[in-house]
Amino acid sequence: MSSTDTGRGTPTALLIGASRGLGQAMAAEFLDRGWDVVGTVRDTTAHTPLHDLADRAGGRLTIERLDINEPGHLAPLHERLAQRRFDVLFVNAGTTNNELTPIGAVPTADFVEVMVTNALSPMRVIEALEDLVSPTGLIGVMSSGQGSITNNTNAGREVYRGSKAALNMFMRSFAVRQAGTRRGFVLMAPGWIRTALGGPDAPYSVEESVPLLLDVLLSRLGTPGLAYLDRSGRTVPW
Ligand SMILES: NC(=O)c1ccc[n+]([C@@H]2O[C@H](COP(=O)([O-])OP(=O)(O)OC[C@H]3O[C@@H](n4cnc5c(N)ncnc54)[C@H](OP(=O)(O)O)[C@@H]3O)[C@@H](O)[C@H]2O)c1
Repeated sequence: MSSTDTGRGTPTALLIGASRGLGQAMAAEFLDRGWDVVGTVRDTTAHTPLHDLADRAGGRLTIERLDINEPGHLAPLHERLAQRRFDVLFVNAGTTNNELTPIGAVPTADFVEVMVTNALSPMRVIEALEDLVSPTGLIGVMSSGQGSITNNTNAGREVYRGSKAALNMFMRSFAVRQAGTRRGFVLMAPGWIRTALGGPDAPYSVEESVPLLLDVLLSRLGTPGLAYLDRSGRTVPW
């Protein structure tokens, strides 16, 4: 275990969109590695897999509320967390729809939902909460290999691909604005994984994937600058 602020004690991660799927599994993996975790869910009335994890975590996992598409949730969350400092802020929340629909046939409301959830809202979260991250900490966001323009040789999932490519561009702008800081920035391409979003045909399980994702993320802690990385730590062509 190591903290980016020497002597400050247990390292802590803030995971946005951690109710289930990869986010919940990342929370579990951080806890297994000795970190404390604050994880967000959007519906505090539901009992999610993150709540099951909190029940077993002996007070090391705190659950907060955030719908990333509700900008009004951000200031109250910031206020509740204002006394804490995070070594890692990672925005995992994301969505998809119209996976088989050519982009011109995607209904406008569906386009807006995916673009706002996957591209605009993660950046709003990062910009609203970045001052809670240690000066030598890491800010990451769940992108996708589908966000690579270079690697798009077979189309499909067009609105989703566009949203993750947009996310990559926005994160790059953010990282440029943070140039000169000692923070690391990561766009994670986790591979195709069997979750509600990934579906049953994906080749990888959550269990085998999440330790790899944490290895890659934490390898960038203390390394300034932005990287777009796959589950093996290889750079994904933009
Ligand atoms: N699985 C894959 O193959 C794959 C591949 C590449 C990238 N990814 C990315 O990995 C991330 C996690 O996906 P997953 O596979 O774990 O999918 P998932 O099981 O469907 O989980 C999606 C998570 O995002 C949260 N979320 C969605 N919209 C939100 C909002 N407006 N506010 C707050 N939270 C919201 C969900 O919360 P609720 O429980 O409230 O719905 C849930 O925790 C996504 O960004 C996805 O694009 C996944």
